[in-house]
Amino acid sequence: MHCTRNITNDLYWVGANEHRLSLFENIHPLTTGVSYNSYLLLDEKTVLFDTVDWAVCRQYIENVEYLLNGKPLDYLVIHHLEPDHAASINEILLRHPETKLISNEKAFMMMRQFGFEIDGRYEEVVEGDTRTFGKHTIAFVYAPMVHWPEAMVSLDVTNGVLFSADGFGSFIALDGVLFADEVDFDRDWIDEARRYLTNIVGKYGPHVQALLKKAGPLLPQVKYICPLHGPVWRKDFGYIIGKYDQWSRYEPEVNGVLIIYASMYGNTENAAVALATKLREKGVRNVKVRDVSNTHVSWLISETFQYSHIVIASVTYNLGIYPLIHNYLADMKALNLQKRTFAVIENGTWAPKAGDLIREYLDKELKQMTVLGDELTINSSLTEEKGLEMDSLVDSIIESLKAEEAAKAKA
Ligand code: FEO
Repeated sequence: MHCTRNITNDLYWVGANEHRLSLFENIHPLTTGVSYNSYLLLDEKTVLFDTVDWAVCRQYIENVEYLLNGKPLDYLVIHHLEPDHAASINEILLRHPETKLISNEKAFMMMRQFGFEIDGRYEEVVEGDTRTFGKHTIAFVYAPMVHWPEAMVSLDVTNGVLFSADGFGSFIALDGVLFADEVDFDRDWIDEARRYLTNIVGKYGPHVQALLKKAGPLLPQVKYICPLHGPVWRKDFGYIIGKYDQWSRYEPEVNGVLIIYASMYGNTENAAVALATKLREKGVRNVKVRDVSNTHVSWLISETFQYSHIVIASVTYNLGIYPLIHNYLADMKALNLQKRTFAVIENGTWAPKAGDLIREYLDKELKQMTVLGDELTINSSLTEEKGLEMDSLVDSIIESLKAEEAAKAKA
């Protein structure tokens, strides 16, 4: 059975949903699935925009063939060669010997690397080129490193549809949803949109910024944003573009405290919860506590993008940093995460070392991180006396939160 939706006039969503994949890119847990979006334009020429992951190809083919209804498929436009969107190219080419590919030089090079037989079946476009398919004219814009070097976006200048590739994408399977305004996006979807962007494209913030700048003059023409994952946008562009702008500038969304702890027997956990309690008691509203051992690092990264202040509370392990905290720090470095304020609590029964090492990592390996001076050392468990020492750490954090809030209000 086909499963398609109409976007506007002669443009249709023909993608598919993935529920059985547990790890996106074999690394990021999926608990609510993901969609692979593809779009079909039925103009005088028929044009398919991107394909889907191989896992959902059968549904995809059924969708495409249903809407083509026996017509030839004239063109397949490819914006991005990552296999979650490109794996089904060969299947389309085999089923439709008449189809010509449209993409750029780098993408065609990658297609050959992936073993696709494209010779004699492609038309190359470069930045600024346009192609007319009847009523519709499509303009192509390079978007390098959003998320691979060959990535590009395109604008249908006839109906204002922006095909944004991975840009404005999100985890969560659509399951019948097409438009972002059909759901309470800010309540139910934004966390997975943030986790998607920050973990998949987080490293390339400057490239996202470059694309936003380049796309700026086109925005008045845009009526729909069609990404390769997640819902289509037809209103509230300022909301989602604002989020992308903030994430790609590495600016926090929330003036608050994220406490990430590593605890082997519950003593460091007790310190983390005591800190959260003291912060809340003093009126800090946005406080979140996460156990590094049972929270996947993709969530920790996403929430570190979200929060202005992070407290790392960690046991010492093999005279070093607890491995999962080390993994979190390394992921922050890999994703270029920057401009946050940290505080550190260390624990150790005979040789607490984690604090100094975490501080050193933040100072030397990451960019523009501020580490508050009051490091708290716990020996085995938090005592009432150390609890009093924690109060000065709480005061430092609150002072820093206020200073940042004031600076933001002034800006
Ligand atoms: Fe959804 Fe970069 O692929």
